[in-house]
Amino acid sequence: MIRSLSAAVLASAVVAHSAVAADAQRGSALANQWCANCHVIGTDATAPASTQQGPPTLRSVAAMPPDQLRAFLIHPHGKMPDLSLSRSEINDLIAYIGSLK
Ligand code: HEC
Repeated sequence: MIRSLSAAVLASAVVAHSAVAADAQRGSALANQWCANCHVIGTDATAPASTQQGPPTLRSVAAMPPDQLRAFLIHPHGKMPDLSLSRSEINDLIAYIGSLK
């Protein structure tokens, strides 16, 4: 009884952890899906000339403090559309963007 109880506690701790842990790899897939239409993604610093006037590369965005990045992705402004990202999607994207530095 005690044994199965502690197993259950352990299992729920693992689930809770994976729900909050940001995952740069998932963020990368999300960026491919949602951001690549408008932003240059990845670590390629040499953006095509046509993007120089447009949205910043995600690599350059990595210089933003994570809290500012989060605030922006929750409520995008300017010419960027609101993509209605979930908290965990935003955390994954921030982890990915941070990895581009
Ligand atoms: C439909 C095109 C479009 C898509 C899709 C898009 N963006 Fe943007 N994004 C823009 C534009 C345009 C700007 C410049 C906004 C401005 O300065 O008015 C921008 C700006 C930004 C900025 C800079 C904000 C700042 O204050 O400097 C960040 C960060 C950003 N986008 C992240 C993302 C991420 C992450 C995704 C994918 C989840 C994404 N964007 C998807 C068009 C887009």
